[in-house]
Amino acid sequence: MKLKSVLFAISLTLLTNLSRAGEGMWLPLLLSQLNEKEMRDMGMRITAEDIYSINHSSLKDAIVLFGGGCTGELVSDQGLMLTNHHCGYSNIQKHSSLEHDYLTNGFWAQRMEEELPNPGLSVTFLVRMEDVTTQTLKGVNDKMNQKVRDSIIQANCKALIKEAVKGTQYTAQVKPFYSGNQFYLFVSETFTDVRLVGAPPSNIGKFGGDTDNWMWPRHTGDFSMFRIYAGKDNKPAEYSKDNVPYKPAKHLTISLKGIKEGDFTFVYGFPGTTQEYIPSYAVDMTAFQRNPIAIGLRQQRLDIIDNAMNNDKLTRIQYSAKAAGIANTWKKMIGETRGIKRLDGIEKKQAFEKDFQQWAQSNPGTNARYGQLLPAFDKVFAAYVPVNNAYTYLTEGLLGVEMLRFVYGYNNLVKMCSDKSKTDVEISKLVEALKTSAGAFFKNYNRNVDTRLFETLITTYTQSCETGLQVPVVKETAAKYKGNIKAWTSDLYKKTIFADSVKLNAFLSGFVRKDVRKIEKDLSYILASGIYTYSQNTFYPLVSAFTTTNDSLQRLYIAAQMEMQPDKRFYPDANSTLRVAYGNVKSYLPADAVEYKWFTTLDGIMQKENPDIYDYVVEPRLKELYNLHDYGRYADADKSMHVGFIASNHTTGGNSGSPVLNADGQLIGLNFDRCWEGTMSDLMYDPDQCRNITLDIRYCLFIIDKMAGARRLVDEMTIAE
Ligand code: ARG
Ligand code: GLU
Repeated sequence: MKLKSVLFAISLTLLTNLSRAGEGMWLPLLLSQLNEKEMRDMGMRITAEDIYSINHSSLKDAIVLFGGGCTGELVSDQGLMLTNHHCGYSNIQKHSSLEHDYLTNGFWAQRMEEELPNPGLSVTFLVRMEDVTTQTLKGVNDKMNQKVRDSIIQANCKALIKEAVKGTQYTAQVKPFYSGNQFYLFVSETFTDVRLVGAPPSNIGKFGGDTDNWMWPRHTGDFSMFRIYAGKDNKPAEYSKDNVPYKPAKHLTISLKGIKEGDFTFVYGFPGTTQEYIPSYAVDMTAFQRNPIAIGLRQQRLDIIDNAMNNDKLTRIQYSAKAAGIANTWKKMIGETRGIKRLDGIEKKQAFEKDFQQWAQSNPGTNARYGQLLPAFDKVFAAYVPVNNAYTYLTEGLLGVEMLRFVYGYNNLVKMCSDKSKTDVEISKLVEALKTSAGAFFKNYNRNVDTRLFETLITTYTQSCETGLQVPVVKETAAKYKGNIKAWTSDLYKKTIFADSVKLNAFLSGFVRKDVRKIEKDLSYILASGIYTYSQNTFYPLVSAFTTTNDSLQRLYIAAQMEMQPDKRFYPDANSTLRVAYGNVKSYLPADAVEYKWFTTLDGIMQKENPDIYDYVVEPRLKELYNLHDYGRYADADKSMHVGFIASNHTTGGNSGSPVLNADGQLIGLNFDRCWEGTMSDLMYDPDQCRNITLDIRYCLFIIDKMAGARRLVDEMTIAE
């Protein structure tokens, strides 16, 4: 090796061997091999086998995927579990009305019989996982194209899954890792009788609301409680009042001992998606193309909805969950783009790409395999960015109109009515189902709000989306109205039957097959089906061609990065599978001259109190306890009531509700957010700025015990004082 390349190799190894405490979302199965030593060096006192084992019960048996998008954990031997308030939010909302406003006032079941069932909600335990890369890739070679490759992989997976669940009540899936370079099999068990046990009032569970969301210092009591029920055999069973509380193989011990800066912590849960190994072109598309468009459109939606919510109580109940969802992504995108800018993320990726190119070209073998990778990415992204931008205008703009999303649900009915093989009985069955979904839709629909959304979003769309990629019906109708979107809006909402529950119900009640013509002629149906047809026929082929090419490039790129940096520990990107992230309790410096301490207290809630601002109203009973200083055993050694803390664990969406555990594997808090300055960690982690935000378990128990008086729940738990 020439001196220059020796030096080059040394500098690379130095760079990649630097351990960055905190970064990574690791596979529980591989901890003993890859991480246990480091974790113990950082202070952990339990073993990798205590965290994940297939031979005996381990912490993994106390963790669930909650409702598809969050994490929950078992805290009693009677199926009692904790997750975030924002994870249980839609279920709390479904049980709420103006008379029983559980969102505003909280809800606490006094007895098990009062715990509320939640149709459609499920929780899933991981039974085991296994590396099935060899079996999955059987019959695959480097010469075949991505499509052929995918179909072979799919067939192999099908066989693996069938074998894995044979004779059990389990389900299984095979998931790709490292963009399809490795595959793991996950065998799971899903429970569908999950009942609401308790939730604090929103001025605790959502304290600080969207104003404080994604930010530190934080004082949100973001938790809610559910209980898993099972059949008498302790196996999953559909809801029945005869079901009994599920007996988990493991539940977490709760620590009231407190924490201090520097303590080892780990987060055990189901992070959703990250993309740490993508090229600069892809980061640029997300951070500097898509995000700004989506941010602008979400801002417009929020302005309209927030205004309506502030002026009307019913609208607040109807729209608060929707607004929280829109605002959450909006703010995340702003933080992410700022974070990438501040980190010089594009320049860092480009510098790496320069090294990569040099490495690839340094030898004929790697050059043949990888020399053309980056130029190929460049070309693919240059062509795709305008398409992605226009598609963002469609999904974030046009589909921001609620009625347009709703009315498209009538597409099936339209199809069915023109299909001679379908009977009238089948049609009326579908009509009944549509009536039910219309009921649910209108429960949370305000026509005035939607009218304003339509006018604003269509105006932006027609003005800002590239003309060549605008949906034809939208473009043409706007032209017909000579750009007078106000007139279009008022005509549309006057004439359509889909923005009015009374009109729609009357229509559906007497529905016969030939009435389909009325749907087909309805202006909002014409618009919605035009949007979806254009998505299907124009965008879908473009998006899917891009995805296929990008996926195969990305698979090669990761393989190449691994080959180039053989000593680096690569953690797989998040993909909604169970992971462990670990780090330390740690303060940080978010801006010039500013230092953020690692914990917050109840004193901070009182400082933020403002009876005139919805997000900062303090619950009277909480204030009382504060004035009495009545914290009992939940107070910290410093006598204050700790509310939240931050640590350097690498987390993402999906980690909400995840247990945050101490060196002994005991529960010290519930993960619920990330600090704003570090939200670019889905693309690029920065040990200086990336912090996860945790609700201190002592504040959570204090609320349950002292504020709600739900002592029966605390008594079920295993507590280490
Ligand atoms: N940012 C957190 C997450 O991504 C919390 C979201 C819910 N809270 C809110 N105020 N919208 O899920
Ligand atoms: N609040 C997020 C969730 O619902 C977690 C925050 C994050 O993205 O890290 O999963």
